[in-house]
Amino acid sequence: MKGFLAGALCALVIGGSTAAFAQGPSAEDQIRYRKAGYSFMAWNLGKIKEQAIDGSVAFDAAQVQAAANAIAGVANSGMGALFGPGTDKNVGSQVTNVKPELFQNFPDVAVLGNNLSTAATRLAEVAATGDQAQIRTAFGELGQTCKACHDKYRKR
Ligand code: HEC
Repeated sequence: MKGFLAGALCALVIGGSTAAFAQGPSAEDQIRYRKAGYSFMAWNLGKIKEQAIDGSVAFDAAQVQAAANAIAGVANSGMGALFGPGTDKNVGSQVTNVKPELFQNFPDVAVLGNNLSTAATRLAEVAATGDQAQIRTAFGELGQTCKACHDKYRKR
């Protein structure tokens, strides 16, 4: 929550000053980084799904733990800072699927981002125990937090 809110507020406050904002990534890079972050989480979620949900790949506690830690790392990295001014539309090489509504609802987005962080931290905690039943529950709860934000703020 703090990370997302700080990033969002920061972007709001210094949005008028390109000189101040130039210290962070460009709008094009913010879109690039957030898409990479979400895709990287999805890749790691897929690995956990194969091993702990579908059983299409043998369960390896160390791999599941590594994947959960990677997701928690991204989820807790302060991704709110990647929704700065000018990132509500395509920039340069970057196509964005963000809905404009996200930029009018930062407090709500912060709650959704906080829910993601909490669920990702929880999944990492249970992954460390190797308990498959708890991993499945935490995985489901994490997936809900992804969907909750996409339903509101992602075009497709
Ligand atoms: C706080 C809101 C929010 C949460 C939580 C969230 N996402 Fe997203 N996600 C977005 C938005 C907004 C986009 C569109 C980004 C863009 O195109 O600029 C997106 C895009 C994506 C993409 C497409 C990336 C691309 O390259 O176009 C994937 C994959 C994705 N999210 C997966 C996830 C997964 C997995 C989770 C949960 C672990 C998650 N997201 C949680 C808001 C969220």
